Amino acid sequence: MSDILPTDQKYFKKIYEAAHKMADFYGFMKIDTPIVENEEVFDKGTGASTDIVKKEMFAFKTKGGDALALRPEGTPGIARSFIENGMHSWPQPVKLWYFGPFFRYEHPQAGRYRQFWQFGFEVLGESGPVIDAQIIQIFYNILKELKLKDLSVEVNSIGDNQCRPYYKKLLTNYLKSRESSLCSECRRRIKENVLRFLDCKEEKCQPIKTEAPQILDHLCDECKAHFKTVLEFLDEIEVPYQLNPYLVRGLDYYTKTVFEITSLLEGETEKKKIELGGGGRYDKLLKTLGGRDTPACGGAVGVERVIMFMKRQGVEIDEPREVSVFLSQIGDMAKRKSLKLLDQFRKAKISVGESFGRDSLKAQMNRADKLGARFTLIIGQKEALDGTVIIRDMKNGKQAIVKLEKAVSEVKEMLKK
Ligand code: HAM
Repeated sequence: MSDILPTDQKYFKKIYEAAHKMADFYGFMKIDTPIVENEEVFDKGTGASTDIVKKEMFAFKTKGGDALALRPEGTPGIARSFIENGMHSWPQPVKLWYFGPFFRYEHPQAGRYRQFWQFGFEVLGESGPVIDAQIIQIFYNILKELKLKDLSVEVNSIGDNQCRPYYKKLLTNYLKSRESSLCSECRRRIKENVLRFLDCKEEKCQPIKTEAPQILDHLCDECKAHFKTVLEFLDEIEVPYQLNPYLVRGLDYYTKTVFEITSLLEGETEKKKIELGGGGRYDKLLKTLGGRDTPACGGAVGVERVIMFMKRQGVEIDEPREVSVFLSQIGDMAKRKSLKLLDQFRKAKISVGESFGRDSLKAQMNRADKLGARFTLIIGQKEALDGTVIIRDMKNGKQAIVKLEKAVSEVKEMLKK
């Protein structure tokens, strides 16, 4: 878990604003769920056999004996909140977005932290494929607006309760016939979570994967038609995508469409694909958590990963650090007057820079230059005694002396010219 230092805050702000703007445009309402939930929400939601819950969740017992967990992801908490707050009676679909910290007990490495931030978008109460396409479009466009390069969208459908059990059986039988050639993890997966075999990265398993039956060939008519329409929408809105029959994602609740958005990390020898975000449809999650049958679809993006790419790909963030006025002072009495003047400028909504810690006029002028001040106000000992202030035009060096109480209105006029 790391500090977010002031140097990185501008990236967080930029990403937050990009997500916020998109959320407003598409009518998503902001939601904040607690960082701590009952452990059961993730056991049932994310899935007790997933790596996230089994290996990576910070779970603990309270003194009162409650089993709680730091949220490893956002979707089950949102589903819990939907049920608890009766959102099924709100106008449907309910479109929600969030931006906050999440926790996974992983081996820390570049792009993988124990506390990380995500922003996510979820649409609950709508089953149409247009939503799947729109969710993908929203994430893709946010990342494009943040000027990320080499973006790639991968999509797949993993079916539903009608067709998936048959496919899982087919895959299990196929893998059993090749069990001795599989990596140890995949041998375990045959019993526990056979679909995860499809995203195994072990060299050994790759040839077996190429020959494996593909889920897209075994979707039921409903899932097939749904997926076909999602792809047609993506074509229509010009989101470039690739079909990835091995994409299954590591969370249990998905049905039908799943997607991931990646970018390429320049390594010493080759470019490595890194996942920036992902998501999909989860039509059964709300029922699993005790709610009504509510189809839903969503996704989330990792903020630190986006920042890593923004930095590596040289995305500049211009920070308008400019001020209209710089206040400089010499001596204690002047400092006292400046403090009051500063507050008057704040009330007049005129941006002011100062450097009360510096006493030399030269150092203060340098600072004024750096901040791009249009005017510098100088209060020296004489001015402090007279109740006046020097206004220096930073463009042409011209100076005028005005009464202290007139300083704000005078500057306001001068800024208009
Ligand atoms: P996820 O793929 O587990 O999906 O996480 C989404 C993104 O969070 C990842 O693509 C990655 O960028 C980032 N991320 C995950 N773990 C870490 C980590 N340890 N350190 C840094 N970044 C990380 C979900 O969480 C689902 N809730 C997405 C979703 C929403 N599906 C439907 N709705």
